[in-house]
Amino acid sequence: MKNFIAGLVLAIGFTGVAQAEGDATAGQQKTAVCAGCHGVDGNSLVPTFPKLAAQGEKYLVKQMNDIKSGARPVPEMTGLLDNLTDQDMLDIAAYFATQKTSTSQAKADLVEKGQSLYRAGNLATGAAACTACHGPSGKGNGPAAFPALSGQYSVYVAAQLKKFRSGERTNDGDSRMMRDVAAKLSDAEIEAVASYVSGLH
Ligand code: HEC
Ligand code: HEC
Repeated sequence: MKNFIAGLVLAIGFTGVAQAEGDATAGQQKTAVCAGCHGVDGNSLVPTFPKLAAQGEKYLVKQMNDIKSGARPVPEMTGLLDNLTDQDMLDIAAYFATQKTSTSQAKADLVEKGQSLYRAGNLATGAAACTACHGPSGKGNGPAAFPALSGQYSVYVAAQLKKFRSGERTNDGDSRMMRDVAAKLSDAEIEAVASYVSGLH
């Protein structure tokens, strides 16, 4: 599994070479409509709205396209992306990617369990270690479009893990990377790892 993931990360990393670039300054002006929920600098104030600050550009662009096409249903954002061009989305992603994430605090009593799952996975259930794809400090893997989790709201993280587990969120593609991991997680593990990553930096 470890070698498989390493190979996968490399393979995806090397295909993303020739990519159009976003302009963060132009992007900022296009985010006025996003600020009400995601915050002016991408640090949303409500924990059900994900922080976009310091998230990887490639991941942000992928999510915007998935939300726009309906591959990832987000009812709160209905229609908001319809008029954005590919360049608009690159610019917006460049803006949020260059902002700083506000940090949250992990719950002290969940750190041990969360950290163990994050770093080593769960041998008994076969759940893969999160660190393999999301990185030792939760910064994700930009070229592979593996999202950063560092500082993200635990409420949002737990909700996404449950959506992958139930099959409500399916935009991890044919590889089913996240659905396969989430299927093996208990509610208690989800709570612990979600708390852990919110304080990880
Ligand atoms: C009315 C509130 C609202 C507004 C306005 C809004 N969003 Fe969202 N956005 C959400 C919610 C809620 C989610 C997560 C839904 C879920 O639980 O899956 C989300 C998710 C996202 C994600 C995925 C983040 C991740 O970590 O996977 C991106 C990217 C995003 N929004 C970009 C935007 C952009 C760009 C705009 C402005 C053009 C915008 N949003 C405006 C509510 C909003
Ligand atoms: C084999 C690689 C891989 C492993 C292992 C993995 N993930 Fe992921 N994860 C991904 C990918 C790829 C995505 C983005 C899917 C998409 O494009 O929507 C993702 C998305 C997520 C998201 C949604 C982020 C957001 O902003 O919406 C969360 C939360 C998450 N992973 C948590 C975890 C946790 C916790 C673990 C360990 C228990 C884990 N992942 C293990 C590859 C992985």
